[in-house]
Amino acid sequence: MPGDHLGTSAVAHPNIALIKYWGKRDELLKLPVADSLSMTLDLFPTTTTVRLAPGGVADNVTLDGVAAEGERRQRVVAFLDLVREMAGRVEPATVVTRNSVPTGAGLASSASGFAALAVAAAGAYGLDLDPTALSRLARRGSGSAARSIFGGFAIWYAGQGTGTAADLASYAEPVDVPGFDPALVIAVVNAGPKAVSSGAAMRRTVETSPLYRAWAESSRADLADMRVALRRGDLDAVGAIAERNALGMHATMLAARPAVRYLSPATVTVLDSVLSLRAAGIAAYATMDAGPNVKVLCHRADRERVAETLRAAVPDCSVFTARRGPGARLSAGAD
Ligand code: PMV
Repeated sequence: MPGDHLGTSAVAHPNIALIKYWGKRDELLKLPVADSLSMTLDLFPTTTTVRLAPGGVADNVTLDGVAAEGERRQRVVAFLDLVREMAGRVEPATVVTRNSVPTGAGLASSASGFAALAVAAAGAYGLDLDPTALSRLARRGSGSAARSIFGGFAIWYAGQGTGTAADLASYAEPVDVPGFDPALVIAVVNAGPKAVSSGAAMRRTVETSPLYRAWAESSRADLADMRVALRRGDLDAVGAIAERNALGMHATMLAARPAVRYLSPATVTVLDSVLSLRAAGIAAYATMDAGPNVKVLCHRADRERVAETLRAAVPDCSVFTARRGPGARLSAGAD
């Protein structure tokens, strides 16, 4: 509750994009080049508590029990500055975050992290924001966080133009597909932090990749096809569109100068096993983000078979099975 000495806590889950966000047209406002669409997971929640420290001199940020420093702390402080500006407040805050997903490994910890921080910080500073405004706010922390405000499937609109009008037009909203409840089997082949941040990789891709414009254009067509496929609850179509969209995104990075390559030999081994599943008549489709880990979309009835196949392909990988999960909300504390 606002002003409560225990602080305001919120929980949010990561989302995995089926139509990817890759590339900004405005770095400061975090306005994307194109719309994207995702599924929020029921795994790996982030819980964040924001407690105001009226006598304090600076924000105090703890991430998984360790004081955040440098760039990581600065991102949170800049986000709190934005919330303070919106609320007309000046007090610093103590922020305590617990992630249940490895941070920085392309498993969308920044999406759950900034969605939880948006809800907790808005509450702590007494801002009364509706889900659309929370989505816009979360976007300013990490673009993909705009989608984790919502459960299930969500579309994030790029909006058009520049400045305030564009800021107002770029938010996520739920895509209602009540009957569609697939599994997402996640093969973590490497849980270590990535060598190039998604922000830096996006910038380099937009600035130097000759393939970028073509992918952004085809991504718009993919989104239109995806909406139809989702409405039909057609997992084969949803999976095929998601897989081509993700591979296209990685192609833009491979063509960047210098290249950004997140996919590792183990990633390719998992991709081969997805092809072998399909050859055996199992609907299984892969998507990868800014890291080597692979998320495989399949029918819930096939999830064990898919998980076993991925485990057998890369014996030292960790496999998790997710389904659609809830949106960000106020919760019990992170301490
Ligand atoms: O929100 P960021 O800056 O972590 O960007 C993540 C982008 C991808 O995960 C690669 C794709 C997406 O749409 O989530």
